[in-house]
Amino acid sequence: MVFPAALAAIVASQLTIPEKYALLKGSDGGYVGNVGNVSRLSIPSIKLQDAGNGFRTSDARMVGQVTSWPCALALASSWDRELVRAFAESAAEEFVAKGANVVLGPGLNVHRVALGGRNAEYISGEDPVLGSKLADPWIRGFQENGVIATAKHFVLNNQETHRGSYSARVSERTLKEVYMPPFEAAAMAGVGSAMCSYNRVNGTYACENFRTLSMLKSVLPGWVMSDWGATHSTSVVEGLDQDMPGWDSFFSPLNLATQVPMEAIDESVSRILDPLFRVAPRRGCTVPGNGCDRELYEVNASTPAHSALAEKIAVESVLLLKNDDDVLPLSRDLRVGIVGSACNAPNNISDMYARDVGNYYVVGGSGRVVPDSVITVVDGMKAAGYGNIQTSFTDSAEDAAELDVDAYVACAGATSVEAQDRSSLSLDQEAFLEKVVRLPQPTVVVALAPGAVVLPFSDQASAILVIFFGGKFTGSSVARIVSGASSPSAKSPISFPLFQNDTILPCLDQDCPYEEGLEVGYKNGKPVAFPFGHGLTFTTFEYYWIAEPVEQKNDTVATRARIVNVGNRSGVETPQIYVLYPEISGEPMVPQLKDFQKTVDLAPGGYTDISFLLPLDSLRIYDGTLVKGTYHFYIGASSRDLRLNSTLSLS
Ligand SMILES: *[C@@H]1O[C@H](CO)[C@@H](O)[C@H](O)[C@H]1NC(C)=O
Ligand SMILES: *[C@@H]1O[C@H](CO)[C@@H](O)[C@H](O)[C@H]1NC(C)=O
Ligand SMILES: *[C@@H]1O[C@H](CO)[C@@H](O)[C@H](O)[C@H]1NC(C)=O
Ligand SMILES: *[C@@H]1O[C@H](CO)[C@@H](O)[C@H](O)[C@H]1NC(C)=O
Ligand SMILES: *[C@@H]1O[C@H](CO)[C@@H](O)[C@H](O)[C@H]1NC(C)=O
Ligand SMILES: *[C@@H]1O[C@H](CO)[C@@H](O)[C@H](O)[C@H]1NC(C)=O
Ligand SMILES: *[C@@H]1O[C@H](CO)[C@@H](O)[C@H](O)[C@H]1NC(C)=O
Ligand SMILES: *[C@@H]1O[C@H](CO)[C@@H](O)[C@H](O)[C@H]1NC(C)=O
Repeated sequence: MVFPAALAAIVASQLTIPEKYALLKGSDGGYVGNVGNVSRLSIPSIKLQDAGNGFRTSDARMVGQVTSWPCALALASSWDRELVRAFAESAAEEFVAKGANVVLGPGLNVHRVALGGRNAEYISGEDPVLGSKLADPWIRGFQENGVIATAKHFVLNNQETHRGSYSARVSERTLKEVYMPPFEAAAMAGVGSAMCSYNRVNGTYACENFRTLSMLKSVLPGWVMSDWGATHSTSVVEGLDQDMPGWDSFFSPLNLATQVPMEAIDESVSRILDPLFRVAPRRGCTVPGNGCDRELYEVNASTPAHSALAEKIAVESVLLLKNDDDVLPLSRDLRVGIVGSACNAPNNISDMYARDVGNYYVVGGSGRVVPDSVITVVDGMKAAGYGNIQTSFTDSAEDAAELDVDAYVACAGATSVEAQDRSSLSLDQEAFLEKVVRLPQPTVVVALAPGAVVLPFSDQASAILVIFFGGKFTGSSVARIVSGASSPSAKSPISFPLFQNDTILPCLDQDCPYEEGLEVGYKNGKPVAFPFGHGLTFTTFEYYWIAEPVEQKNDTVATRARIVNVGNRSGVETPQIYVLYPEISGEPMVPQLKDFQKTVDLAPGGYTDISFLLPLDSLRIYDGTLVKGTYHFYIGASSRDLRLNSTLSLS
């Protein structure tokens, strides 16, 4: 996109120099970021609020006034574009109701480090295609409802350890093929802003990195703001349009006047104004102190419809990793032992405000949306109609063994907070689970997790459910799946490794070489406990090609397949198409996700025909080359459960 864009440029030309400078620098207080209005030109003030998980309860008074949505990674587990859009539209209404016109999300970073402290905030999971496909409805849903979205954290903020200084040393190919695509997809969706990150790339801070910022800005129809405190110089010419929240003096009028040509200032101003006019033309809430604070703290933006949607998303995010002998759904007639403190984990919000921590329902830090109350797993099970429940919350397998029950639901959790990586991929109660699964009765493990976890007890567990932080409706959504009131349909946006040491660990040095290159996540080919894309339903699907398996049609590769429910229960399947490149391409020799769809709910015996149309452009490698040779196309139920294959030669 070429800036200055027309209307924005005309308006920009009428601004005084101090007015222009003021647009390039924010302040905190009130919303997490604030930029004043220019009312004589109908330029609204910019009110920026965290974040991708919903309206941040940055003050305890906001708790209950905004909906407690499942975390971004849980939303991503739905692999459901329409659901993502529904979330975005409803969440946008809450931002509008509370006077904010910029949401500091979506978080798009592809998970490189399984221990990453903000992984739950990133909708890409470990795959750039998943992130790209979900970024689009996320951004459109917000922006078509008057809230400018912010693609963050640009770029290579793949760990929290030393995030303010480490330098990602990465090849151009790895950057362009693994970490850039969700940001490019965001730009294609019209995203109004992007946020540069704390870390450095090849030695240069992301917010003054001309190379990476110009890559982004060649497609971005909007402006680049800094992460809070991520500015290190008056780097307008390098590509930073706005210093947030402007505590530093790098964007002071004096520095701007002496270090930045007016032409560059004008481009930045136009980049800021264009999305304001295009996306958020209404709502003139003033700078803090003039009414915005009142909107923040007094408006109850949550509605019963939003809560119902949050619960639906939570249900559709519950991953069923394992279900031996169809132990689930669990009959309500059984005597069920609900064991483990995590089944009864408190909504310990008063403690949480003392520090910026998280619990088993929400992440800590700026992505935190604290619920007014939570439905624990045990509450959810009781409400789901299990009449014969016995409980033990001591995390003692001996106590659990004392219960006179037919089956166990055993919970464990792990927490995560911004600005630090997790210290372990183990669940906090791993030792307890390892013992419980050895009791004679079947055990349904429920993991409340902020991302990848290791599940060393998985062979002995009868069933395993994972929810990537479900917010308020965690317990009711888990219980709906356990009882069969809802049918599981989530797919994992990440791999569940066998061992922590199979994953990429955070760099401890300032120099952080991305030695694995393209082999991120499932593309490393290592054996895993449960693969990327995996998620069971209560039924069984078979896959068949229809007619010619894979055909080149003009600029696309077209495939059609029939998905048949051959099981005894209804269910929704998520067929995924993967491509294995010719060896000379230099791509990992592992099939890579290119697209996916969710089927309609299929009754037993029912079927549906799905088609994938892959643009040939989606097969190009980083430098635009369409490598000649034989491509293998696979359609399957996960990255490691590829049911159909076919080849096509491209010349
Ligand atoms: C980082 O530096 C290396 C070595 O100079 C270079 O090969 C690579 O392309 C650079 N990466 C980016 C993203 O510019
Ligand atoms: C713009 O800001 C000024 C001063 O902060 C305030 O008095 C005025 O009401 C604002 N105008 C609009 C349209 O928000
Ligand atoms: C906000 O409204 C919702 C839905 O009507 C209600 O459940 C909730 O209790 C209200 N919150 C507060 C803080 O009043
Ligand atoms: C809140 O609860 C979680 C889960 O039970 C726990 O890990 C965390 O330490 C608690 N936080 C505080 C501040 O007590
Ligand atoms: C990784 O950890 C597992 C379990 O702790 C251990 O068995 C394995 O040998 C380790 N592998 C390496 C390469 O250290
Ligand atoms: C594909 O190309 C053929 C021949 O050039 C043309 O007739 C047809 O309309 C094209 N189809 C599409 C879908 O563009
Ligand atoms: C469907 O139910 C029948 C009868 O209970 C059973 O024999 C069969 O194995 C089931 N099929 C599947 C795919 O679960
Ligand atoms: C491809 O499909 C054929 C036919 O179903 C099957 O025999 C073969 O093993 C598959 N090959 C691969 C590499 O999956």
